[in-house]
Amino acid sequence: MRIDVGLARRDTPGCERVVHLNNAGASLQPRHVLDATIAHLRLEAEIGGYEAAARADGAVERVYDAAAELLGCARDEIAFTDSATRAWCAAFYAFGFRPGDRILLSRAEYGANAIAAWQVARRTGARVEVVPDDGHGQLSVDALRELLDERVRLIAVTHVPTHGGLVNPAGEIGEVARAAGVPFLLDACQSAGQLPLDVGRLGCDLLTVTGRKWLRAPRGTGLLYASRELAEQLEPAMLDLHSAEWVAADRVEIRPDARRFETWEANVAAKIGLGVALDYALGWGLDAIWDRVRALGAALRAGLAAVPGVTVHDLGQVKSGIVTFTVAGRSADAIRAALRAEGINVSVSLASSARYDLDRRGLPELVRASIHYYNTLAESERLCNTVARLARTASAGQRL
Ligand SMILES: Cc1ncc(COP(=O)(O)O)c(C=O)c1O
Repeated sequence: MRIDVGLARRDTPGCERVVHLNNAGASLQPRHVLDATIAHLRLEAEIGGYEAAARADGAVERVYDAAAELLGCARDEIAFTDSATRAWCAAFYAFGFRPGDRILLSRAEYGANAIAAWQVARRTGARVEVVPDDGHGQLSVDALRELLDERVRLIAVTHVPTHGGLVNPAGEIGEVARAAGVPFLLDACQSAGQLPLDVGRLGCDLLTVTGRKWLRAPRGTGLLYASRELAEQLEPAMLDLHSAEWVAADRVEIRPDARRFETWEANVAAKIGLGVALDYALGWGLDAIWDRVRALGAALRAGLAAVPGVTVHDLGQVKSGIVTFTVAGRSADAIRAALRAEGINVSVSLASSARYDLDRRGLPELVRASIHYYNTLAESERLCNTVARLARTASAGQRL
């Protein structure tokens, strides 16, 4: 199926107001998501929060089925969280690392994951190592294979990074991890909703997602997939009355399923919105979304690369809808602000969110444009034309 772009845009009120190329930050929500979220907030105000949750039980529970459909797993392997970082940390801190354990991370790793790994290494004596990239700038599967030994407790990889078009070869990494019997945690924060994901084919045991980016859900939503086998071996670093049951004064039983990583309290309206967003994405189909995102991303990348003074920095053999670039003579923030003044949303990636990669490449900051299926080639051209004007004025030494 192809995406009906006209319909997708009519479903998206924000398309009338902005050229939104910050989908890697937070996408524009479809009105179905907005309406469902607001309706639940209104119900909470009218009849009470607990009573509204009880009435909306079906919509709340839909999140688990829709997420299971998106990821090709069972509903009891899904936990709802309030962000991808929370999902990642819930899984990561449950490993109970010990001195001498080795934790392998990707060079594209997201800053928050690297920070958590740094803390755990400092507290426990585990060692964090970064797997080298191959000649395409994606994780080298051969290098990973060579690094493996019996002390490796976890392979954690960022599928699509925050700061570039790279798509890491997750399926091949999963094969290596499976063969070695090492748990594999995939940060799919920037890939979920952008490209098809199937945990069986990816070979991952844990996978993390945020709602607000490519899935177009409300902010403050996320998901953790934890395989049945691994979930029951991982004791969450934090428990509450939902993740565990206080069965006797001196005895607690931890839930057997992935919801052991949840907390009791949740933003129910946002959770319902996430369920609607998942169904909305599934309605288009992830293959159709990916075909269009990839084509629009390639066109935008080519358009920007052709602008004098612009350098595009995306790595990898397969590239996503994230396009990163620099403009000679202009800071990334100046470009972002100038585009914003023209009604075009992009964002800035700083080295502090991806130091393993950006420090090595000597790139302190990048402009990040991220294009979704509801964007158009005309919007992409408008961005390129505006950037070309900003680059020309920079080369003429003019201030913005
Ligand atoms: C690759 C990657 N992982 C994780 C995150 C964290 O997501 P969240 O802000 O939902 O915690 C981000 C956010 O930009 C990201 O780009």
